[in-house]
Amino acid sequence: MTPMTPITQPRVLLPHIAGGPAAYPSLILLALLSAPLAAADAPVSWYKDVTPLFKRSCNGCHNPNKTKGDVDTSTYAAFAKPGKNGPSYLVGDPTKSLVVSEVTGKEPSMPKEGDALSPAEVALLERWIREGAKDDTPADAYSTRITAPPTYAALPVITALAISPDGRWIAASGYHEVLVFSTADFQPRGRWVGESTRIESLAFSPDSKSLAVAAGVPASLGEVQVWDVESGKQTAAWKLSADSVYGISWSPTGDRLALGGADKAVRVLAYPSGKEIVRFDNHSDWSLQTAWLPSGTRLLSGSRDRAIKLIDAVSGQFIDDINKLIEPVTCIARHPKDETVLSGGAEGGLRWYKAKENQERTAANNDVNLVRDFERQPGPVQAVAFSPDGSMAAAAIPNGEVRIYNPADGKRTATLGGHDGAVFSLAFSPDGKRLFTGSFDGLIREFDPANGRLMGILQPVTLTP
Ligand code: HEC
Repeated sequence: MTPMTPITQPRVLLPHIAGGPAAYPSLILLALLSAPLAAADAPVSWYKDVTPLFKRSCNGCHNPNKTKGDVDTSTYAAFAKPGKNGPSYLVGDPTKSLVVSEVTGKEPSMPKEGDALSPAEVALLERWIREGAKDDTPADAYSTRITAPPTYAALPVITALAISPDGRWIAASGYHEVLVFSTADFQPRGRWVGESTRIESLAFSPDSKSLAVAAGVPASLGEVQVWDVESGKQTAAWKLSADSVYGISWSPTGDRLALGGADKAVRVLAYPSGKEIVRFDNHSDWSLQTAWLPSGTRLLSGSRDRAIKLIDAVSGQFIDDINKLIEPVTCIARHPKDETVLSGGAEGGLRWYKAKENQERTAANNDVNLVRDFERQPGPVQAVAFSPDGSMAAAAIPNGEVRIYNPADGKRTATLGGHDGAVFSLAFSPDGKRLFTGSFDGLIREFDPANGRLMGILQPVTLTP
């Protein structure tokens, strides 16, 4: 790896990546804007006629995450299920259909907020019911697959970064894609476009051959992708859940993957089969980050429920909360050499814990695993990392700084500034001499973590005018 030349004025690299046509978003928009109400003679289509009006007027309160009255209008299958007060419609008879009475009358009770449906829209809904309330949703209707790489009108927030253990590659989150660059010269290696719109977390396998991605589409898909680094080909796309997944990590031997999710579950998947071998449902809120202990038999999961849970990675049994439940845990990072973990909290806490049973806790001290409580951060800690030799602890925060601490005495040794907005992701190079940051401003910055000097800036995507 050729180190970048130290420069006073940071070099800005703008890789010229070929962008495909902006076909996808504009086509969908066009389809929505021009959707005509069903022709008088053709049967009413659930997908083309009813779905768009539900989407506009109803789905805001009736979707998988917010089912007011136990009614979900977002898909055919969900709408077909009875709500709290019974079925929403009676096939063939609009006059006996609850949904029709809800949207009609002098003061229609639905939509609960916003404009009432027009008489033509009500007539459409009635006719769909009269004609048999049929489903004509195409098989790929909810697929977010795209055929050309996305184009960008603004730089995407960099929510995830990872460096391969061999130090050669840096991967960053884009919209719908992972952007991969050489760490030697920042030249693009590939744009790895998958089905999920949001890339939440990235992790290279211990042998640097594969990149695992926790991704999703909020409220509809949680997916794990695996990419072959050499060929740039996708080798796996496992659909796991109906909401985003986060915090993916490889077991030390590279034969298992752990991840958390908005469905509160922690999963362990066998690699390469993808078989779910552990599902842990002990969290009461989203699990945002996982980390393996060196043995590979125990696993940690940090959650918005404030706990860092120690889990038996083989049986899936809950062992203990290693920490005192002080604030939502937004990020964790295991120490590279021992069984300790750094945690960042939603209220600015930055703490270092022993990753073991918290059993000696007493009424007087119920945070017995605490090794160090660092300086309080001004806002939620978005990402934490240890340098590869464990001599530095880094925390990314919303004021646009990354702060470096000496774990031995807890003192701050450097402050990496200059980000335009919060820093969301961090990655140390394997030699510990470079620290890459990913920020709200859409740029990747390279720093010398020893002194905080900015060494380079990478804009990972090209903007289309
Ligand atoms: C601003 C939120 C909101 C919007 C928008 C909304 N609803 Fe509702 N809906 C509710 C709530 C809350 C309930 C639960 C019953 C209640 O409080 O009236 C409900 C209940 C229902 C029910 C069940 C009624 C019952 O008696 O059990 C149906 C059917 C329904 N809504 C259909 C619709 C349709 C169709 C639309 C769009 C045209 C719509 N809603 C838009 C909030 C909303």
